[in-house]
Amino acid sequence: MSQRVTSPVMVGRDEELGRLLAALEVAGRGTAASALLVAGEAGVGKTRLVDEFTERARRDGTFVLAGACLDVGETAAPFAPVAEAFRSLPAVMDPAELSEVLGGSAEQLARIVPALGQRPGHLPASDGALFEHVLGVLERLGGHGRVVLVAEDVHWAGRSTIELLNFLIGNLRGPVLILLTCRDDEPGGPSPALRSFLAELDRGGRTERVRLGRLADPQVAELVAAITGGEPSRRLVDTVRSRSDGNPFFAEEVLAASADGLALPTELRNLVLARMQALPAGSWHVLRAAAAAGRRVEHSLLSGVTGLAEPKLLAAMRQAVEHHVLTVDGAVYVFRHALGQEAVYADMLPAERSALHGKYAAALADRASQRDQASAEELGQLAHHWHAAGNWHEALLASIDASRAAQRATAYPEAYAHDQRALALWDLIPAAAAASPVGLTGLLQHAAQMASLAGHAERAVSLARRAVSSAGPAAEPLAAGSLRMQLAAYLWEAGDTAGALAELRQAAEAVPDDPPSPEAAGIEAQQGRLLMLRGCTREAAIHARRAVALARAVRADDAEASALGTLAAAAAARGRPDEAVDQLRRAARLAAGQSDIAGLLRLRQNLAATLWTSGRCADGADVAVAAAKVALEAGLRIQAGMLLANAGAALVRIGRWDEADRFLQMSADVVSPYTLGSTYHLLQRSLLRLWQGEVALARADLAGILQNFPDLDPQLACPVYTQLAEAALWDDRPGEAREAVTTGLRAVEGNDDPAYVMPLCRAGLAAVAAEVRRPRIHRDHAGLSQSRRAADQLIETARAIAAPADTKLTPVTEAELLTAEAEYARVTGGDAAARWDEAATAWAELRYPFPRAYARWRQAELELIEGTRASASALLAEAWHTAASLPAQQLRQEIEALAARARITLPSPQRPVADWPEPGAGLGLTSRELDVLRLLAAGRTNRQIGAELFISPRTAGVHVSHILAKLGLASRGEAAAAAHSLGLTKPAAPDADTVISAHTARQSPSPPTSGPPGRTPPGRYP
Ligand SMILES: Nc1ncnc2c1ncn2[C@@H]1O[C@H](COP(=O)(O)OP(=O)(O)OP(=O)(O)O)[C@@H](O)[C@H]1O
Ligand SMILES: [Mg+2]
Repeated sequence: MSQRVTSPVMVGRDEELGRLLAALEVAGRGTAASALLVAGEAGVGKTRLVDEFTERARRDGTFVLAGACLDVGETAAPFAPVAEAFRSLPAVMDPAELSEVLGGSAEQLARIVPALGQRPGHLPASDGALFEHVLGVLERLGGHGRVVLVAEDVHWAGRSTIELLNFLIGNLRGPVLILLTCRDDEPGGPSPALRSFLAELDRGGRTERVRLGRLADPQVAELVAAITGGEPSRRLVDTVRSRSDGNPFFAEEVLAASADGLALPTELRNLVLARMQALPAGSWHVLRAAAAAGRRVEHSLLSGVTGLAEPKLLAAMRQAVEHHVLTVDGAVYVFRHALGQEAVYADMLPAERSALHGKYAAALADRASQRDQASAEELGQLAHHWHAAGNWHEALLASIDASRAAQRATAYPEAYAHDQRALALWDLIPAAAAASPVGLTGLLQHAAQMASLAGHAERAVSLARRAVSSAGPAAEPLAAGSLRMQLAAYLWEAGDTAGALAELRQAAEAVPDDPPSPEAAGIEAQQGRLLMLRGCTREAAIHARRAVALARAVRADDAEASALGTLAAAAAARGRPDEAVDQLRRAARLAAGQSDIAGLLRLRQNLAATLWTSGRCADGADVAVAAAKVALEAGLRIQAGMLLANAGAALVRIGRWDEADRFLQMSADVVSPYTLGSTYHLLQRSLLRLWQGEVALARADLAGILQNFPDLDPQLACPVYTQLAEAALWDDRPGEAREAVTTGLRAVEGNDDPAYVMPLCRAGLAAVAAEVRRPRIHRDHAGLSQSRRAADQLIETARAIAAPADTKLTPVTEAELLTAEAEYARVTGGDAAARWDEAATAWAELRYPFPRAYARWRQAELELIEGTRASASALLAEAWHTAASLPAQQLRQEIEALAARARITLPSPQRPVADWPEPGAGLGLTSRELDVLRLLAAGRTNRQIGAELFISPRTAGVHVSHILAKLGLASRGEAAAAAHSLGLTKPAAPDADTVISAHTARQSPSPPTSGPPGRTPPGRYP
């Protein structure tokens, strides 16, 4: 067995620790000693809590003495906790102190702690006298400050220890806290002496009791993470949680065992069994029968299986309850520890187990036959017991029933597991297969559906493929088409849209349009849906219209609703959101009458997305959250996750970031990682992080998506590459941003949905605008015209996608286009400030604070050169206020840096207070002069300095002469050298490109570019 490892940090227990510290506080003030009892089951963490507490107390100067009772009986270890505590005294005190504290008691105390002195030659003093001596020592210690006396494990205390503790608690005076720990789950319960001692403590009112319960689920996860020192898998956390029940000792054991596979290790089994050893044989027999049922067992079932007469059974169970092995929950017995059940079960012989399982199965089958419909749980148990009894014939049939029942109860993972068991037996037991109500193809189809609903798309795909081949070429065309349609749906879920479309084309070939059939309608509808998701809105609409016609002919409402959903999306893409919402509502009415909750939810999801992509974010979020609740109730986790991500997406955009964060986290919690469903929240979280200024985190999320799904649908590929480009821009890597945009555009070739393509073009133009600085600085005409061509191409793509007569942009895409135009003007020099004003106004109307602030910042930058300081200052204040309140850290820093360079005072401090001196401090230069000096050191002319700092060259010259005078220097060269040696020219200086570009901008007719939306010149020397 692997080594057990303990967590380096104590998990949870804040409240309990707080109570201990408060008790010490009270004791420290008081004249009478106080006592505190920490009670709880074995291994729950009493000692750990006490250790953490005493460590803190020691740090605060409290004197701590500690000892424990032993389970060896009183005669072997009399007064054990006090003796152990006193034994440490000579080690921690010098002889003079020790003799002062011991007073005249050394000899008497030597009776229990020989190390303290010579044993008295005469007859031992009475216990009463000894108690007085112990009391004296503690009181003398208390004379020097606060004292804690720990007596652990009083459940093992014998009569004399109990009497001593009782005496101390009753008589001690001074700042002393007596801290006791006690198990409250000892087999057989407390001894009579302990029982009355504990009762006395409670009655006296001077003893506080802290009951330690098991750790809650999130704390177990924390514990596992702390012990493994990383992010543990969800499976590992679940295993530890379910087997340990939140008992930290068991959690450590299970974790150590899990390194060797998940079987219960013998040591742990013996340890758990040892605690049940005291049970009489009769109870053991029943306990074994109970363990075969699992963690819980009904009284009536147990009675049937054991065949015991009622009084005998009751007596046996009462003993098991008294020994803390079982608890009672109504008419059900529950093993108090999951490991208890496991240990008893593992202790049985295989033959013994299968006999018991057979009996349970027979009893349950008998019960099921007497009812109309047995519950999913009962049928699940029945299947389980037939399997465990080795009755494969019954097991196969029972698994099929259990799967159907689990599906009805929306327990899809269970349903899937039952189907898998049935499939595993199918070929082995032909007689049972022949008796089965479904054939192999039907079983595979069902298993695929359950796998998909349980979130295992890949497995659904392989099961559906098996279903297609099991049906074979002879299959009836409609049935074959419908099998392929199912397969296509799972392929899409697994992220293979191209594969799905290929399957659908095959299905369409197999199924004739005439006469119309629900299958034909369904195939067309699904083709429309996937093409829509691919961004091929026109082609999608053609299929969807065909689907509607076919569906109406045969009243296939599901297919019609789905097709209407697609038509709605097409309308939304063409800028007709009202029409889209209308169609979606019609579709929802059709779907409402159907059993297809998933289809209905898809429509709600489309509605939510249509609302937020057309600028009605708050409404979109409301629809998504309401639908997510329905999805969760129906056990549809993937859809719940997507809907929650939708809600998050909408809220990110309108600046409700805390709420957005919460929904995105919830989304992450319900979908399993590495499924397509998980990409939705990652994508939105990455946008949120990008805007918050956590660029590295955003990049990690995006990388995660691409790693798992390199071949994304356009609806995901577009935002992924757009955001990758934006991240690169914030990191001041325009080249990388351009590449991301190119890859993105390639991934969505043939796409005609402006909502997908427009943001990509906009990000591409921002990248060119950032990139163009360099050729401009170096007067690299070839480079300039290359950039210009790239920009032209991007803006043409953006304009073209908005051009068709049947296309009206949604307000959001319109704002994107305006922003793209404004970025384009940064490259070419149109009336750029005015372009940014239009963009900002569009975002303001949509109530999108972040893009609005970004646009205002860009506008201010241009106003500083082309317009007035007053307008620039007002724009910066607006942008800063928004960025600071979101808060969008990186944007805020950019704004502050621009304000600092332009000497514009923002509404509140522009820079956080530095905890180190600014370089150049103490030279008597003003901060403006320091700015000038930095630029001077970088070899700038007065004109260049003026351009960078938004002042005239003459003013710059005046600053330079002041600097030389103040520093007693003769020339600009000397000033530059001084600046270098003062560290003023380290990264604190604005980077050369920024300086030159601002300068070039002034001189050239084209408008300037500012620094890229990237690394901020920190303005301070780190
Ligand atoms: N809150 C906690 N955080 C991290 N580890 C814990 C926590 N509580 C207990 N543990 C660990 O679990 C194990 C068992 O805890 P501990 O020994 O304190 O239990 P106990 O209640 O004193 O048990 P016993 O009744 O057997 O004395 C120890 O290794 C301990 O370090
Ligand atoms: Mg302990």
